[in-house]
Amino acid sequence: MPGMFGAFNRSLQPALKRARLLSGLRKTQTSWGHNVQFRGCSATSDTFHSHEDSLVIHYGGTQLHFNYVWLRDHCRSASSYNSDTNQRNLDTGSIDLTIRPEHTAVEDGHLVLTWPGGHVSTYSLSWLAENSYERKKHSVLQPRILWNSDIYKNANIPSARWDTFMSCDDELKKFLQNYLLYGIAFVEDVPATVEATEAVAQRVSLIRETTYGRMWCFTSDFSRGDSAYSQLALDRHTDTSYFQEPCGIQVFHCLKHDGTGGKTLLVDGFYAAEKLRQKSPENFELLSRVPIRHDYIENTDKHQNHMTGISPVLNVYPWNNELYQIRYNNYDRSVINTIPHGTVQRWYVAHRELTKELRRPENELWVKLSPGKVVFLDNWRIMHGRESFTGSRQLCGCYLTRDDVLSTARCFGLQA
Ligand SMILES: [Fe+2]
Repeated sequence: MPGMFGAFNRSLQPALKRARLLSGLRKTQTSWGHNVQFRGCSATSDTFHSHEDSLVIHYGGTQLHFNYVWLRDHCRSASSYNSDTNQRNLDTGSIDLTIRPEHTAVEDGHLVLTWPGGHVSTYSLSWLAENSYERKKHSVLQPRILWNSDIYKNANIPSARWDTFMSCDDELKKFLQNYLLYGIAFVEDVPATVEATEAVAQRVSLIRETTYGRMWCFTSDFSRGDSAYSQLALDRHTDTSYFQEPCGIQVFHCLKHDGTGGKTLLVDGFYAAEKLRQKSPENFELLSRVPIRHDYIENTDKHQNHMTGISPVLNVYPWNNELYQIRYNNYDRSVINTIPHGTVQRWYVAHRELTKELRRPENELWVKLSPGKVVFLDNWRIMHGRESFTGSRQLCGCYLTRDDVLSTARCFGLQA
């Protein structure tokens, strides 16, 4: 908004050195300074107000607080920040923790601070607003559409098609948008081979190699010490909950099935968790605070593994309470010995309430995976399971690195 404040250039020289010396690093928010208004192009006036250790800017109807050390740390001048590499040059450890600007001004939609020693920092007000805690605590990092079976079916999300998916970036972008919103996305008409499945996965991201290999391909031969390698039904769960960082994305492709059953169950864990949060915030809070442990212990002739992941069942960002990960795997959940005695009963109650939500029939999306149809799942959100089956069933797939999938999406301009 160039010229927004051009007609009015007020500055503050709070002369607070004496107060600062007296107060040291006290975190008081006593209002002591001037209260200066400057005209904006909107109907409301914008204001900045100097406090002992921070500046308050009234912008767009909101009061935004900026700590002085934070402001110096986030200076975007060439000596402080390399705009080519988007990396900080400034040594944060060298900033005086009692630093205050000697001169404060707003001009042409920018905050201009002059620091002791003469260094000048300039920030656009829109950048400050966008990066303020106040803005972040009211916005989500990743917009999502939570679903039960009807919501998902009624949305009529189209599958991507192999040919266009592999060659057209717009098709990949649409696919990723659907994936981000719903946590699942499909590609159809994929040749029913491990090689084609690998190719379609690599179109999205780097493949995450694990103890199961780069591409895994399993049948009901019990070749690994895991129930997935059987014909048994599997209840809803997230995979690799026993990793410190569970795999972010899972890819499934059923290459062959001569028999009955074996439909795949998909459940939006966030939909169930948000229902729990609405109905019983204290149960949601407990599940998001108390860490528990999952283990994978395998001891066969060919494979020896012992992996451990420790985390709450529900994980939320503390600044906005946005849910970002659910770890729910009753098969792999280990001995509970991280919960104080007085909390164990309440934890089981909370876990039961979440389980009830996860098991509501209306939340279950059943999909028959057939050769050619590849599904991508957000393993931090979507649970999967399957019904039992007969006959020979060959499933292949892989895990993808979450960072790379989200990076691809962001490079397309998608919010993730
Ligand atoms: Fe699984």
